[in-house]
Amino acid sequence: MPVPSDNLEAPLSINLVLIGFMGSGKSSIGRLLATKLGFHLLDTDALVVEAAGMQITDIFQWKGEEAFREYESQVLACLVDRNLRGAVVATGGGIVTREANLPLLHELGFVVQLTANEEVIFERVSRNKARPLLHTPNPRETVSHLLSRRAPLYAAAADYTLDTSTKSHAQAADEIIAEARRRYPTPL
Ligand code: S3P
Repeated sequence: MPVPSDNLEAPLSINLVLIGFMGSGKSSIGRLLATKLGFHLLDTDALVVEAAGMQITDIFQWKGEEAFREYESQVLACLVDRNLRGAVVATGGGIVTREANLPLLHELGFVVQLTANEEVIFERVSRNKARPLLHTPNPRETVSHLLSRRAPLYAAAADYTLDTSTKSHAQAADEIIAEARRRYPTPL
């Protein structure tokens, strides 16, 4: 169990739910948030892989995107049913594309949208080829298209938005924790 680095303060008794486009920093910042707060880190992509018994690229290839979205919604509903406290939940970038997922995200916790500008996103996603939606003849154009289509969905789902383009992971994590403490003050 990691020792919370800011344990001089009362513990937060909520979950942090990270949403945002691929490459916005959900996994890396999620890991750091979990370490700093002594929270569990849960990742909907990893839970989908576990539930399906297949890698994400294989789900998309053999079962299709709709099947992936179905797994993703089921995994989210299961997390809500578990009545978690003290977890960071990193979600897949497309979780906001199903309207029925939005109330579940809010039931789960404080919904934080991570953003980054398009250049930064493209540079980050280019380092990892495991994202089937970007297996297109022109991934740059796909990123641009998906980003503009999804931006309003993330904005509508978020309680709070943080641009990570020029921030270190540590800076981003500290700002999210400060905001969560402001909004969810622990009773004495
Ligand atoms: C997706 C994002 C991926 C993963 C899947 C679909 C999307 O997660 O869920 O490849 O639709 O944006 P990350 O955002 O963690 O890369």
